[in-house]
Amino acid sequence: MKLSVKENRTEAIAAACAALDGGEVVGIPTETVYGLAADATNEQAVQRIFSVKRRPSFNPLICHCSDIEMAERLAHFEPVSRALAEACWPGPLTLVLPMRADAGLPSITTAGLETVAIRLPSGFSCDLIKAFGKPLAAPSANISGKVSATSADHVVADLGAAVGLVLDDGPTPIGVESTILKIDGGEVRLLRSGGLTVERIAATTGIEVLTKIQSGKIVAPGMMESHYAPNAVVRLNAVDAKVGEVVLTFGATPHRYELAVAILSLSASGNLEEAARNLYAMLKGADEIAPNGIAVAPIPEIGMGVAINDRLRRAAAPRP
Ligand code: TXA
Ligand code: MG
Repeated sequence: MKLSVKENRTEAIAAACAALDGGEVVGIPTETVYGLAADATNEQAVQRIFSVKRRPSFNPLICHCSDIEMAERLAHFEPVSRALAEACWPGPLTLVLPMRADAGLPSITTAGLETVAIRLPSGFSCDLIKAFGKPLAAPSANISGKVSATSADHVVADLGAAVGLVLDDGPTPIGVESTILKIDGGEVRLLRSGGLTVERIAATTGIEVLTKIQSGKIVAPGMMESHYAPNAVVRLNAVDAKVGEVVLTFGATPHRYELAVAILSLSASGNLEEAARNLYAMLKGADEIAPNGIAVAPIPEIGMGVAINDRLRRAAAPRP
């Protein structure tokens, strides 16, 4: 069942809390993408997230909290993590921190790691967690490896009857997942680029984020080469179209796309925030046209373009 948050916020929160209390999974809007939420402290409920998403059990979940006090019950905060939390939460930032021995999380939530990923989302999901009173484990609400959901309809289309309740708050305002940082001693390392740019983090906190990925090692267990993949093959940096492709353009389109079956504009004005908002819906929309392939115009590797290009590279990677 889909329930509109805009029309009846109180009823939506009550229905979600009842379902979560009963150990069910609920589709929830966040400012980044829709999440598939469950009580992070309930082993069976979290198990349901893994089976509904067909997610490998080695891939840990993010625990969503409503305030820093709730987060502090899960993890140890050092001065640098506290500074990041105070400056950037609520918002599209996830911190991977050393887990407290008394965090109360079943090992399935963190895939047996000694660290825990924590995020304080803004808006409706923050109010929902506050009402529920416990952290919510929530990955993106899509089948594992597929394109993430940025609307309630995407959640229903992808996960269907397996999810009893999906809360609808319209399209998500950011459109790509949170930025993930791992805090290790004084070191702050980027595990996943996302909705908060490292430039913005540096400007608001003065903290320098190490962005160089260690020698070929997968640092976030879920950052597989192929991810965010539509059904059609994806071709990047396309300056022309091959017969039957759908083209995703960015900015003015001086390129030669006349062989395309359709052209979808990520942002006609060349705005990277707008392109991030449109990215997943347009990959799904392109797929529905059943093209010979999806060709994507070059996207500048600056600001939000870093996260967009990361997702596009994974969408275009060879499939397992
Ligand atoms: O914006 C978001 O972050 C969304 C919304 C729903 O909050 N969530 C999201 O979750 O993108 P998910 O599960 O699709 O991606 C979480 C990533 C995975 O790559 C996972 O491996 C990584 O976070 N992760 C979780 N716990 C970790 C840990 N302890 N250490 C390293 N990586 C971790
Ligand atoms: Mg995901």
